[in-house]
Amino acid sequence: MDVGTETARSAVPASQFKKGMRRLSASVSLITVNGPAGRNGMTGTAVCSVSADPPILLVSVNKDASIHDQIVDRQRFGVNILRPRHRPLADRFSSGASGEARFTQGLWIDGALGVPVLKDALASFACEVVRTVTVGTHDIFFGQVVGIDISDGSPLLYGDGQYEIPLPTAPQAYHAMI
Ligand SMILES: Cc1cc2nc3c(=O)[nH]c(=O)nc-3n(C[C@H](O)[C@H](O)[C@H](O)COP(=O)(O)O)c2cc1C
Repeated sequence: MDVGTETARSAVPASQFKKGMRRLSASVSLITVNGPAGRNGMTGTAVCSVSADPPILLVSVNKDASIHDQIVDRQRFGVNILRPRHRPLADRFSSGASGEARFTQGLWIDGALGVPVLKDALASFACEVVRTVTVGTHDIFFGQVVGIDISDGSPLLYGDGQYEIPLPTAPQAYHAMI
């Protein structure tokens, strides 16, 4: 399914669209894959819950990203939600050498389906691709979750072009700050 080619050209310039979307803060994840070409991963914020029954989430991946063709080949991927202390990993997985070189930092294990799982992630999901939709520059992979690890804590957030420190969640901690 290709939505991009059916859509009429928008009157809104891309620059304005990007400026508006910078106002949207989001949790930062590492999307991962493992296959004959080895491991690869990418920093991503375009991750979204789709359905709880069956459990399905989506990731939106630029077709030019090095991980893209590996997800298409393997029809599976991992999603690892980062904590604030994982900021260096977010940098590493969004620039510089791709592939195995990105995994020299962090404690990585093989999760369900063999997807790379960051052991101290806030939550990790192993997903099987059940549908792919092409929209403009990106492929949206819908993944059925077949493995999950969950722990407690705060997420690493990204908004307005920068990483943000999330507010403490406990009310007493918040009052201690003001
Ligand atoms: C905070 C942040 C969020 C990002 N979110 C996405 C995303 O959701 N989808 C995407 O395709 N690229 C996203 N990117 C860009 C990719 O991480 C980056 O282009 C990636 O390094 C490209 O892959 P490659 O270097 O392996 O080719 C994001 C980058 C940053 C810094």
